[in-house]
Amino acid sequence: MDYKLQDALLPHILSHKGYVPGEQPDTTGWLKLNTNENPYPPSPRISDAITSQINGLRLYANPDGRSLREAIAVKHNVRPDQIILGNGSDDVLNVLARAFCGPDNSIGILVPSYSLYPFLASLQSAPIEAIEFDQDFDLPIDDICNSRAGIFFMPSPHAPSGKGYTNEPLRLVLEGFSGLLVIDEAYADFAQTNAVELLATFPNLFITRTFSKSYGLAGLRVGYGLGSPDLIRVLHGIRDVYNVDLLAQAGAQAAIEDITYFEECRLKVLATRTKFLEKLKERGWFTYPSQSNFVFTEPVDISGRKGPAVAISLFQYLKTKKILVRYFANHSLTESFLRVTIGTDSQMETLNRAIEQWIANA
Ligand SMILES: Cc1ncc(COP(=O)(O)O)c(C=O)c1O
Repeated sequence: MDYKLQDALLPHILSHKGYVPGEQPDTTGWLKLNTNENPYPPSPRISDAITSQINGLRLYANPDGRSLREAIAVKHNVRPDQIILGNGSDDVLNVLARAFCGPDNSIGILVPSYSLYPFLASLQSAPIEAIEFDQDFDLPIDDICNSRAGIFFMPSPHAPSGKGYTNEPLRLVLEGFSGLLVIDEAYADFAQTNAVELLATFPNLFITRTFSKSYGLAGLRVGYGLGSPDLIRVLHGIRDVYNVDLLAQAGAQAAIEDITYFEECRLKVLATRTKFLEKLKERGWFTYPSQSNFVFTEPVDISGRKGPAVAISLFQYLKTKKILVRYFANHSLTESFLRVTIGTDSQMETLNRAIEQWIANA
């Protein structure tokens, strides 16, 4: 048979480009400050929680993730029927895109922000309504309200700037925007505020969260969404039924219930962030105020130069020292900056030493 893959695939899939995640080196010895993972291991309770489930692996997991959803409900003071689990929060964002986006249903995004959103639009063959940020990454409230998109994705705290948005501007957006506003709160545990309380007032609000960052469980792949029970019911019918496996459910539940350990790690990250921000300030590098476990900073070389070539130079120098940070080319608001994940104090000292060498060598 003369089978031509090209002819069989959907036209929009032919032009679709795969998502490119931050580099995950497969050799050891790297200091990874490029994908906002937690520098601390997950709760020590996880090991027992996961191993105790091993004999149960011959059976399918609870498709509703009931027990984990109940634990998440306690954290946020919401009801379990307001929660959907995902294989990472990316999976929840994907389910939302499947429900709301298509060739005639556009998706709204802020630019620059999380690069998964345009990827999801492309998968659904959905047009993108992109709203450009100003230099301060202020929330363009009126532009979002005027958007015709059926769904609008925005991270808060924002990635990659790290800037957090308070509930007053978010409330204005929710009052004025006619579609579903998805606030991606992947980093909210590192912020002073979050939007969860707004769920009680606004059925057009949906919030996504993850265990990948603040709980140190990026490798386990657990995230969740919070929304109105009506929408959650619809989304349950769209997701893969067993999207969060048995071990992931058990591990995430142990992590969320170990509040003391969670708080300890969180506060350590915040304290290191403060110290690192002070160091950047001493150096005179402009850095956005961060509500996240990363900072977005504009490197300056020994001659006082900054700009894309300087940021790339430091990025490459750090790589030769086996230190990975993140560089986002192709946008005027990002191309002169580096995004640096907050590690342990000692990891940040290693980074600081390498930066000093780069300044001296340049
Ligand atoms: C803004 C934002 N949202 C979502 C995610 C994805 O998180 P998860 O690991 O839960 O899929 C990330 C990961 O880097 C992110 O930066």
